[in-house]
Amino acid sequence: MASPSRLSHVWSRVTDLQVARGHGCYVVDTDGHEYLDFTAGIAPATTGHSHPRVVKAIADQAERCVHAPNNVYTHDLLEPLADRLAEITPDGIESFFFTTSADEVIESAVKVARQTTARPNIVVFDGAFHGRTHLTMAMSTSRALDREGYGPLPGGVYVAPFPDPHTSDQESEVSRALRGLDRLFLTQTPASEVAAIVLEPVIAERGYIPTPAAFIAGVAERCRNHGILLIVDEVQSGFGRTGKMFAIESHDVQPDLMCMAKGIASGFPFAALGLRREIDERWAPGSHGGSFDGNPMACAAALATIDVITEPGFLDNVVARGTQLTDALRNLQQLDNALQYVRGRGLMVATEFDGPDRTAAIVDHCLREHRVILMRAGTRKRTIRWMPPLIVSSSQIDDAVSAFTDAIRHTG
Ligand SMILES: Cc1ncc(COP(=O)(O)O)c(C=O)c1O
Repeated sequence: MASPSRLSHVWSRVTDLQVARGHGCYVVDTDGHEYLDFTAGIAPATTGHSHPRVVKAIADQAERCVHAPNNVYTHDLLEPLADRLAEITPDGIESFFFTTSADEVIESAVKVARQTTARPNIVVFDGAFHGRTHLTMAMSTSRALDREGYGPLPGGVYVAPFPDPHTSDQESEVSRALRGLDRLFLTQTPASEVAAIVLEPVIAERGYIPTPAAFIAGVAERCRNHGILLIVDEVQSGFGRTGKMFAIESHDVQPDLMCMAKGIASGFPFAALGLRREIDERWAPGSHGGSFDGNPMACAAALATIDVITEPGFLDNVVARGTQLTDALRNLQQLDNALQYVRGRGLMVATEFDGPDRTAAIVDHCLREHRVILMRAGTRKRTIRWMPPLIVSSSQIDDAVSAFTDAIRHTG
């Protein structure tokens, strides 16, 4: 009899696959079966699985030095990486703090915002997801399950309304949500006590909903008027995912702080906080840090990733494949009107059905019958998100859409 697994059972899993290796848009299980991975491992595999340049950069760096804690000494990839990030992030983001995970980078942004403004409170939006540590849990309202049994959660976090994407009059919906934010300042926390507002340019876990431009402009205006810092969470939408290097580039706003993780190092655990220089200069030296901050292998992976995604034509492929994907998915709406919405930017695409059971059946059919990995998102689990590696080819998009079409036919 097989002995019981010694692994914690706390993780939920999208598939039961045991992966032996990965290459490009595919993962290969221990039985040698190849699966088309349209999750990119929940988005980090921007350059695909085990991109040769990323692998070489990590291996070369591993031979030179695995660990060089920033608090003890620096190493020779830190400054080049900060320079490269300054080239690709929005104007005004000039200083960089490195850490290991998305949760840590969001927590770091909140710490610097609180310390430098000397204000206690943070405003987030309904349906956002920012992580699973206690503070980031308090900032996340995409699913009650992520919070269940873990309270009490830290205070100082206020949740403002986010425009409902399904309301036909989007202009009034945006105004309604902005009035809700103004009301929050009147009824829950004065704006003068708010250190930062944290915004996702595409709200990810609620179901890949692009944040309306007028809403982002209204939030930025309120930040300016009240001396509140604007923290942009680009953890899932950054590094080319939406066809722009960062999703916020589609908007005429300048973030004060930018949180980056997931796609930054092609799956190597790494995260970066970009800051306006004057904010960084007021962050008290020695008041934050960690043993793994700026790990040299992670920096090597990030530099190689940035080299790949800044190659001429790379983002054009994201835009072209994104258009190919959304056009094909929109055509399928004629096949089955349970497929209610198709939305997205670049390769951050969502298909929303009228119920969670149908999405579960479709994801399962694609996996079992076609070896295509898709995953769900959204508060009501009615959404399937499409986030292949950004190197995906036209024929791989066709393969995934054809699996999905077959799944719609078989599950209807
Ligand atoms: C926008 C956003 N922020 C933060 C996180 C937290 O990332 P992680 O799950 O890697 O901690 C996620 C994860 O999905 C995310 O989408």
